[in-house]
Amino acid sequence: MLSRFLLVGAVLAAEARASQVMSSSQAEFTFVSDALDYDDSVQRCRDLGMEMVSITSEEQQARLAQFLSTQSTAGSQHGYIRVGLHSPGSCDWQWTDGNAFPDPPNRGPEWLWISAGEPNGCSSNEKCAMTRTDWNGKLNDSKCWYLTYFVCGAATAGGAGAGAGGAAAVGDPHLQNIHGERFDLMKAGEHVLISIPRGAAADSALLRVQADARWLGGQCADMYFQQLNVTGSWAEAKQAGGYHYSVSQHDAKSLEWVAFGKVELKVVHGRADSGLLYLNLYVKHLGRAGFTVGGLLGEDDHGDVSAAPDSCAQRLALVAGTRGGGGAEVASVAVASLA
Ligand SMILES: *[C@@H]1O[C@H](CO)[C@@H](O)[C@H](O)[C@H]1NC(C)=O
Ligand SMILES: *[C@@H]1O[C@H](CO)[C@@H](O)[C@H](O)[C@H]1NC(C)=O
Repeated sequence: MLSRFLLVGAVLAAEARASQVMSSSQAEFTFVSDALDYDDSVQRCRDLGMEMVSITSEEQQARLAQFLSTQSTAGSQHGYIRVGLHSPGSCDWQWTDGNAFPDPPNRGPEWLWISAGEPNGCSSNEKCAMTRTDWNGKLNDSKCWYLTYFVCGAATAGGAGAGAGGAAAVGDPHLQNIHGERFDLMKAGEHVLISIPRGAAADSALLRVQADARWLGGQCADMYFQQLNVTGSWAEAKQAGGYHYSVSQHDAKSLEWVAFGKVELKVVHGRADSGLLYLNLYVKHLGRAGFTVGGLLGEDDHGDVSAAPDSCAQRLALVAGTRGGGGAEVASVAVASLA
């Protein structure tokens, strides 16, 4: 399968990755190359079904250091990488994911910090913890409003990111099906992302999620969902006609998980730096559906829609080569999980 990831990845190998929203996922850590402040980083991890990472042992710190050593922080303020530790008051450090912060209560273990004198600003304006690629996973206290890259931790139980192997899809590639396979959508138009049962016609499905995907920023650029329709008798049971999400209707309710039968679904609105509006989709508990799940995020084959048309290869190379210090690249994300 010729995925866009492989194409761009190869071309980009020698390029600065500063402007790319790229990420690498492992079961334990997910690096998000999008420069955000503390609150937005927390939210982004949660949108992905995770929490910002906590560091609860020296062994884990070493694994994190190893993981970070291959990442680029070129677009992150001061080269910092945020983790999920902050002190909302005065040196009352708390892990964002709720893990206990060990003794001593206002500092934690020696090995956690970059030097014996740190943290030194948590009683004034340094209430968020950062690391760097060359700090061996050790932390310094710094400013929560810095726009930095960050690390999300393992998927929360039942979270959207809790797919096969616990890995989550973010950045490139953008879709992850129930088997944890990641791929990019390379064909614009209407796509069935979920169909329960698999192969059901539109008017006899229990649940059907259909997306309208568009290239925005030019053919072969980035694919964005502009519309998502949720139909079928499970959707009808909640709302006559089902649910229609579109970039132009920003409905606060859509930020929450909505249950359709035993399956839950969340649509998250996104906005690129350029002002482009798009939608992201998260679906969980598909293992409880009681039927075989079809659609691109289910069992259906995605080889056809994820192959880059030949006409894109040259264009992709061009895009990769000209993206220097420009705006961040984003695209719609759709993640499904059985859990
Ligand atoms: C940690 O932050 C302090 C500012 O609070 C700074 O003076 C110090 O140089 C930083 N440590 C490292 C290793 O960068
Ligand atoms: C969503 O539903 C509306 C209204 O039925 C329809 O016009 C539109 O084409 C549908 N879009 C998709 C992606 O299915």
